[in-house]
Amino acid sequence: MRKPYIAANWKMHKTIEETEEFINAFLPMVRDITDVDILVAPPFTSLAAASRLLKSSNVILGAQNVYYEEKGAYTGEVSPGMLLSAGCSCVIIGHSERRQYFSETDEIVNKKIKTAMNNNLEVILCIGESLDEREENRTFEILDTQLAGSLRDLSLEGITIAYEPVWAIGTGKTATKEQANEAHTYIREWLRKNKDGADSVRIQYGGSVKPDNIESLMSEPEVDGALVGGASLKPDSFAGIVTGAIKK
Ligand code: 13P
Repeated sequence: MRKPYIAANWKMHKTIEETEEFINAFLPMVRDITDVDILVAPPFTSLAAASRLLKSSNVILGAQNVYYEEKGAYTGEVSPGMLLSAGCSCVIIGHSERRQYFSETDEIVNKKIKTAMNNNLEVILCIGESLDEREENRTFEILDTQLAGSLRDLSLEGITIAYEPVWAIGTGKTATKEQANEAHTYIREWLRKNKDGADSVRIQYGGSVKPDNIESLMSEPEVDGALVGGASLKPDSFAGIVTGAIKK
């Protein structure tokens, strides 16, 4: 069985002080949880401070983005080596907000995953269709394109997939558990057809996950966890999601 995996994507929220306040409140709430992998991805500026507080805890530190070059004249970018030295062991790549507002293509996402993997960073790869695409019945076609482009020439070692339908992100409109499971099943089949080791890859659902819908989502066989935005910003709310993710 795949171990449930719950990740917090804080997006552009929290100063260093707010990050420390969150972690100090959150760690005692989840200290005894061993049945769920837990990750927090603060903004770059909070990583080093978060790393100090998370040391020897059961919470993994991740970043929200990375550049695909190791170093050089790339003003404003952050390399995999910098993430490692800040204490990260994982990075979120290809989030729909990066695709939408920062023009990230599957080709760029693929290059970023390659560089992250070369540096032994684990990766959460985000994919998912927009509302128009779903309404035009193009969900599976979009997933195909994103998976093929993002994972070109790559193994599945160290990869988690986050299925985040864009229409469910920050809208309060969660996909039904059946919709999530259907998309996850499609993703799993694609991985089985195209790569080795598909059955051990965890597939998280993302999009308006909250303490009161996590149990229902997790009851589906192909939902292995969640990537959480808004509801991960408060310690008690995120701890509620972590607790609710323990498979019954
Ligand atoms: P919300 O949980 O705020 O809908 O965000 C989901 C998300 O984009 C996580 O990466």
